[in-house]
Formats: sequence, structure tokens, C-alpha cells
Amino acid sequence: MKKVVVITGTPCSGKTTISREVSRRLPSCELISANDLVKGKNLFTGYSKNGEMIADMRRLSAEIGRRIKGSEKDVVIVEGHLLCDLKVRGAVAITIREHLGTLLSRMEKRGYAHKKIEDNIVAESIDYCGVNASGNYVEAYEILSGPRAAASVVSIISGKKGGMGGIDMLEELNGILKKLGKAAI
Ligand SMILES: Nc1ncnc2c1ncn2[C@@H]1O[C@H](COP(=O)(O)OP(=O)(O)OP(=O)(O)O)[C@@H](O)[C@H]1O
Ligand SMILES: [Mg+2]
Repeated sequence: MKKVVVITGTPCSGKTTISREVSRRLPSCELISANDLVKGKNLFTGYSKNGEMIADMRRLSAEIGRRIKGSEKDVVIVEGHLLCDLKVRGAVAITIREHLGTLLSRMEKRGYAHKKIEDNIVAESIDYCGVNASGNYVEAYEILSGPRAAASVVSIISGKKGGMGGIDMLEELNGILKKLGKAAI
């Protein structure tokens, strides 16, 4: 039976990089990017005041379902930060975690607006994606981004588990807020 894997996590945590590496390691794997679907198939309802697309979650979910059903590969990976707020039937969810300082420098490098950087840093510190994924998926794991992440994902897909629990980024928050010129909480 086809195995469906959702890879989610805060923007810039490394989802696309890791998913591509995993799909190269597996003999029969299709990789679907939720972000590409939203853009490529116009699955958005409008733009936020920062000019970002607001995904149409209902149509995105239906499109993902169709793509999974139509795939002839043994493993289908669907990746994107939006996936933690969806329920992809039968999928195992893996949340990619990353240290706040690394996220900060990656987002700055991408030229993200201050507000977006701050929101994403706070989201990672409270494990927004991981918490929601564990509510939306029957089987949910968290792994730390980095050079061993792809191997950990492959190990989870092959049933050897290996996911980590209790990755805590919250204690890094005040240091990062200070860097951003914000009051500690
Ligand atoms: N292990 C790594 N070491 C160094 N840089 C990395 C690593 N993983 C990802 N990056 C870099 O971090 C940036 C974000 O990675 P990536 O695009 O994979 O994240 P993402 O989670 O898919 O982000 P988004 O949610 O915006 O799609 C990229 O510039 C990528 O090259
Ligand atoms: Mg990506």
C-alpha cells in the first residue's frame, strides 16, 4: 500500500531541502509541494496586507487528495508549512524543527519583513506546527533539521521510527527577541 508522508514545519526550517534529499534516497517516491500547488493552481483566496497569498485550504486539501490518489509511487511526500493545519488522510506527519537563531538568519537572508520574521520565530518557539500536526494526524513525529534529518525521515518512513520528542526551542526565544530589539517575555 502507498505510504503518505506529510513534512511540515516553520518557514525556512528546511522542509523542501530535506524532502528533496529523502525523495532522492527512495526508489519510488513522488514529492508534492503544497506551496507550488497554491501558486501553480491558483489555490488562494486573495492577498494578505503584506501581499502574501492566502491559501484556500479547502481546495488545497482536495487537490492534495487527488494528487495522492493519482500517484503510482510507493511513497508520496507532501511538504509545506500549511500541512500542519490540514488533515491528509492516512498520512504520517513529520515536523522539521530548527533553532531560532538559524531560522532568523535564513529569513533575514531571504529578506522577509520584520513582522513575518517575528511571527515565525514565535511560532517555532511554541512548536506551532508540531502541536497542530499531532492534533491533525494519527502518527506524528518531530525531527531536528540538519545533515541527519533526511536519514531520520527515511527511517520513519521505513517503519523504524526514530523521531525525537520534546525538542524545546522556547528557551532560545528571549535571546532572539533581544536581537530583534523586542522586550523579553
Ligand atoms: N541543513 C542545512 N544547512 C544549511 N542551509 C540549509 C539547510 N537546510 C536548508 N538550508 C537553507 O535554508 C533555507 C530554507 O530551506 P528550505 O527552503 O528547505 O526551507 P523550507 O522549510 O522549505 O522553507 P519554506 O517554508 O519557506 O518553503 C534555504 O536557503 C536552504 O538552502
Ligand atoms: Mg519550502
